[in-house]
Amino acid sequence: MKERLNQTLEYICNRTDLRPRIGIILGTGLDGLVKKIKIKKSFNYSDIPNFPVSTVEFHKGRLVFGYLNNRPVLVMQGRFHYYEGYSAKEIAFPVVVMKKLGVKYLIISNAAGGLNPDFKPSDIMVITDHINLLFDNPLRGPDELKMGPRYPDMYNCYDQRLITQTEHLAQRYGIFLKKGIYVAVPGPNLETRAEYRFLRIIGADAVGMSTVPEVIMARYLGIKVLGFSVITDMGIADALKPASIVKILLAAKKAEPKLIKLVEGIVTRL
Ligand code: HPA
Repeated sequence: MKERLNQTLEYICNRTDLRPRIGIILGTGLDGLVKKIKIKKSFNYSDIPNFPVSTVEFHKGRLVFGYLNNRPVLVMQGRFHYYEGYSAKEIAFPVVVMKKLGVKYLIISNAAGGLNPDFKPSDIMVITDHINLLFDNPLRGPDELKMGPRYPDMYNCYDQRLITQTEHLAQRYGIFLKKGIYVAVPGPNLETRAEYRFLRIIGADAVGMSTVPEVIMARYLGIKVLGFSVITDMGIADALKPASIVKILLAAKKAEPKLIKLVEGIVTRL
């Protein structure tokens, strides 16, 4: 792990001097933010030694160094999913790279199904907590990294100060921000009616197939986390309709300007 990490870091450090304090991971259908970035340097994942390669066709797969509203940012345009066959450890590897490059804050986004009946497609939910149903963990196995505690505390996992700041921003921008708990499932299928009901009963407001491995790693490394779910479809057990990936991507696109505004606002205040 250490050797692979050093190879990756050497490759990146030899090609850019930018060391942003803010890392951003963009979820499905949410890579429009990159258009707002004054790009200084970008790497295709396939060119970075030891980086996984995204196999999802609508994920771009680039690591972007640049400026958002004049603030240096390090952006993952496209991420890795458990359903692609990667382990949680592989999925979270880029977060370790971010930490080594100096990232202190991680803003992470995803597309998710709404479980809370007060939600509707294209709503944005700031994540207050998560439930890990991936049954995998990026910290499983020997602690080769030795960059954090063996038993990381998940208190304040999603940073309360950042959540409050985001709520204030949303109010100022007139964005009706939802708040809730994200549950991660392995995918790639969407849930059965019974599974949606179960996920609601155990306390989740939104369900998706990502985010949790990166967040666990970030917390192990002491990186502060702000998370957003964009609600793309509704998983209400008693009112279930067929979902379609096209509709999911359209809903994400529709919500994107709101998310971009919030991220831009937060980035200028960090
Ligand atoms: N379930 C799981 N993942 C998802 C969903 C969903 O309903 N919508 C978008 N990602």
